[in-house]
Amino acid sequence: MTDQIRFLMCAPDHYDVDYVINPWMEGNIHKSSRDRAVEQWQKLHHVLKDHALVDLVKPQQGWPDMVFTANAGLLLGKNVVLSRFYHKERQGEEPYFKEWFESQGYTVYELPKDLPFEGAGDALLDREGRWLWAGYGFRSELDSHPYLAKWLDIEVLSLRLIDERFYHLDTCFCPLAGGYLLYYPPAFDSYSNRMIEMRVPAEKRIAISEADAVNFACNAVNVDSVVVMNKASDSLKQRLADAGFRVIETPLTEFLKAGGAAKCLTLRVTEPVQVEVHANVSVESRTIRLEGHLLDSGLINRALDLIVDNGGSFQVLNFNLGEQRQSTSAADVKVSAPSHDIMEEIVTQLIDLGAVPPPQEICDVNLEPVTQAGVAPDDFYVTTIYPTEVRVHCEWVKVQNQRMDGAIAVNFTPDGPIAKCKLLRDLEIGDHVIVGVEGIRTVRKTESREQRNTQEFTFMGSGVSSERRVELVVEQIAWELRQIRDRGGKVVVTAGPVVIHTGGAEHLSRLIREGYVQALLGGNAIAVHDIEQAMMGTSLGVDMKRGVAVRGGHRHHLKVINLIRRYGSIANAVEQGIIPSGVMYECVRNNVPFCLAGSIRDDGPLPDTEMDLIKAQQGYAKLLEGAEMILMLSSMLHSIGVGNMTPAGVKMVCVDINPAVVTKLSDRGSIESVGVVTDVGLFLSLLVKQLDKLTSPYHLTQTV
Ligand code: ARG
Repeated sequence: MTDQIRFLMCAPDHYDVDYVINPWMEGNIHKSSRDRAVEQWQKLHHVLKDHALVDLVKPQQGWPDMVFTANAGLLLGKNVVLSRFYHKERQGEEPYFKEWFESQGYTVYELPKDLPFEGAGDALLDREGRWLWAGYGFRSELDSHPYLAKWLDIEVLSLRLIDERFYHLDTCFCPLAGGYLLYYPPAFDSYSNRMIEMRVPAEKRIAISEADAVNFACNAVNVDSVVVMNKASDSLKQRLADAGFRVIETPLTEFLKAGGAAKCLTLRVTEPVQVEVHANVSVESRTIRLEGHLLDSGLINRALDLIVDNGGSFQVLNFNLGEQRQSTSAADVKVSAPSHDIMEEIVTQLIDLGAVPPPQEICDVNLEPVTQAGVAPDDFYVTTIYPTEVRVHCEWVKVQNQRMDGAIAVNFTPDGPIAKCKLLRDLEIGDHVIVGVEGIRTVRKTESREQRNTQEFTFMGSGVSSERRVELVVEQIAWELRQIRDRGGKVVVTAGPVVIHTGGAEHLSRLIREGYVQALLGGNAIAVHDIEQAMMGTSLGVDMKRGVAVRGGHRHHLKVINLIRRYGSIANAVEQGIIPSGVMYECVRNNVPFCLAGSIRDDGPLPDTEMDLIKAQQGYAKLLEGAEMILMLSSMLHSIGVGNMTPAGVKMVCVDINPAVVTKLSDRGSIESVGVVTDVGLFLSLLVKQLDKLTSPYHLTQTV
């Protein structure tokens, strides 16, 4: 049996580190000793000859890495997939290896040009022959895997490499006889690790330490119970011994300088075919189209990065670059993913960026019926804030009631199909909900170079911000508020109690009084503190004029709550002259509707506070209808809720002293949101001042 096993090697006559194509070669150019390399190579050759036959391919001048015959190709039975090297530094080896394979009677398959694949360095057969593990991420392209499955008629499991030190699969992964696996888990992404764990039972997985990994312990040659490698720690040797393997160490330090060791220096050329296994590959590909200011807005980078970050790979099929500053570009991108789930994840994110399926390719979305009220089918498409269209009967149908975090239900009416966003809890038995991601597109405003530069304003929050920048953004907001008011539009404010604590009450009151606010959303607290301030001059017991705590002041807010409860409602308390001023007072006086959503504190609530959260959500949604602008003033949770209820296209201004909150709220990937990191009281005072300026005679003479 043993004497039938054959390896291919290539003597190091021309071996050297001549260039850098992996991190190990860095700093090692011409630093290896040819004599020592020859000696080490011969030792390995010798060891192997004790256990198998070794064939030799003639070394070629000018191709120093040809010693690494693992990269010649991948073979199974009498078929070979020839390597297509990623780096030109090694591409010249291809014809020599091809010649050798042909001379031995193998059928040689060649991949399309520009589809890199580095042979047995990146593809390792399960030693039982049940499947092929294939790596991608650095040297080999995911798209090569379906070819391997087809030509070698075997199941291919794609593993993504993520640590550049372990750029070839055989540097961190070594299937052993008896179903064992020697490997270094951190070299793989989490999805790949999960797949490894699903295929190889825990008792057969031998995970090694980083110290062993950097000694190339995984780059081992396994012949039956013998494992040949550069070096192994005692504990690794022990673990292998416990599993029934004998380790033979043979130093290969000269080859480590080029990023290779025992396994790389050999290619097993006898790999028997298992009759019962057949081609199977879970790699999926799809083509998507991106349009817009792809370069200016960074959209193309974001799209390609997200594909790779999620474990997929891409090929840009064509890119039409808009030639003028104002013209848009278009790109068709082939996306590949190692599995269906990953493909869906990637495409979902691409849809959010505005990617569309190529025209006419998909005629109908996939629909599944709701079988339990309030519960969507698994795999339902989750909506975003962006206007969305879906394919039904080969037409794009606009989704109604667009909002985030919903499902899309499609109804077939005599007037044609209707698609609607629905909250999970509103789904009814018999509704048909879109599942998967096929046939869905979001319509995104394209963002040009100019627009992108003015997105986030910060003040007091980071080193780069300046007062002037906040003033600029306040000027802009004031101007827009003015426009909206004058044309009878709608502005909604969400506000937290901090507005009151920071002295913003008088300014917000003015905005309401002067008609700049059409609805107010908050919780119990803003109203309590506002009324406390209006009635007692304190906010949570702190004197607002002097900034000091008032004796017994901590009870003020409870007194206030109690009093309003006695009057039955805020409006009634205002009518009765109990509340003399403030934000709530102005709302009542000016007929500005408000919705106070809940309280988790057990100190009240005010009679107006809606403690049924679903009702409160409905109240918010109602007041948000038709809003053109939303001012989010230091209330993270209510603002997040509001953000989710609001479709793209509504301008949102998020003000908070905490940059993280501002980023979270304004990071909707849309050009309509502006973040301002500053004290909200200060912001409101600047805003009111700015509005005053807009109405002053001085300003009028300037603009008329
Ligand atoms: N210098 C070679 C390269 O970077 C080393 C190849 C090692 N081979 C292997 N199968 N891991 O391509």
